[in-house]
Amino acid sequence: MDHFLYKDGRLHAEDVPLSEIAASVGTPFYCYSTATLTRHYRLFDEALAGLDHLVCYAMKSNSNQAVLKLMGDLGAGVDVVSGGEYRRAIAAGIPGERIVFSGVGKTEEEMRLALSGGIRQFNVESEPEMALLSQVAVSLGVTVPITVRVNPDVDARTHEKIATGKSENKFGIPIARAREVYAQAAALPGLKVIGIDVHIGSQLTELEPFEMAYAKVAELTEVLRADGHQISRLDLGGGLGIPYERSNTAPPLPLEYGDLIKRTVGHLGCEIEIEPGRLISGNAGILVSSVIYVKAGEGRSFLILDAAMNDLIRPAMYGAHHDIVPLIEPEAGAEQSTYDIVGPVCESGDTFSKARAMPALQTGDLIAFRSAGAYGAVMSSEYNTRPLIPEVLVKGDQFAVIRPRPTYDEIINRDSIPEWL
Ligand code: LLP
Repeated sequence: MDHFLYKDGRLHAEDVPLSEIAASVGTPFYCYSTATLTRHYRLFDEALAGLDHLVCYAMKSNSNQAVLKLMGDLGAGVDVVSGGEYRRAIAAGIPGERIVFSGVGKTEEEMRLALSGGIRQFNVESEPEMALLSQVAVSLGVTVPITVRVNPDVDARTHEKIATGKSENKFGIPIARAREVYAQAAALPGLKVIGIDVHIGSQLTELEPFEMAYAKVAELTEVLRADGHQISRLDLGGGLGIPYERSNTAPPLPLEYGDLIKRTVGHLGCEIEIEPGRLISGNAGILVSSVIYVKAGEGRSFLILDAAMNDLIRPAMYGAHHDIVPLIEPEAGAEQSTYDIVGPVCESGDTFSKARAMPALQTGDLIAFRSAGAYGAVMSSEYNTRPLIPEVLVKGDQFAVIRPRPTYDEIINRDSIPEWL
């Protein structure tokens, strides 16, 4: 459920008509709902009730400062994967003890930043990373709590570009080598082994791959404990999928996912962390765009929008589906037209959908891409010198721009021409 509904024939974000926001900020823009973000965070928090736990929002999905402040105020931790994301978390007031640092290529500078500013744990992904982290910790006179990310060799049954838990993927250390790697970690002076980390992929629509991975983690917990390691925390990653197509069957709910966690690892007495991103932010955001032209092609009509692949790259990059709806509610039984829905960027890949049935639209009409709150704004670029589009947050009947559209001068003046040219 989300809070983007038609009321009196107009699509609203909570209590604000989206056409009103469009009139105020111009299109295209992203719009997020505070109520939906809050609801989704709470679903996870409640799903883990009864377990000592922390929901660490994966901010890579949507890292706007206002979204992070909201998450922080709700009590969430965050999962960060770069020094930039770490800085964002601190800037939003999230304390170091609620920040988890993941990622396969952490640099020495990023390690120094997080160790000096405060960190809950590092999820270490390789032996060279472990050695460097220990060195940096020793040089700063601290000991850093770590988990080792294990790769359980489980097929997440998701898009190949976002599957991470198979042995051919770059992530984690092979679970078969875990005992050896944990022994090395325990011998390093700057590290304190506290747990195990696993993340097998994103947009998972079935529970079974999680079940297989978590069962392996449970088994490994016992083995590592028998080897003398203190395993008191399990970071189970993110990845629970969302319904992108309302007409399709919905993926499992956070509550069912929580039950699965209790069933597979609940008996171990560990503190549980999860790192959901998409399920919290995805359906809490939409992208509003205007129709520039309706163009008659050879045997097809093109709906040319003012949003493009640089604003929302998921369809071009993963062939992803986003529901697209008009801001004015179509009348029941209204005639449908079929469109290829495209942006103005000079690539054929700038296609959001082919042969999509929509109510007939004209120049100036407004439409919304649903489920665009995750991996939307954060993956956008200024390709074709198209300014990053504004982000707007709604709460009840209030809205605010939480990232303005940059001016063309700001964009152009970021470049400089060397004096010798
Ligand atoms: N934890 C780790 C270590 C991750 O790598 C990810 C996502 C998450 C948590 C959060 O996963 P989520 O709950 O959001 O599925 N750009 C792609 C998705 C990339 C996901 C990368 N890692 C897309 O638009 O589908």
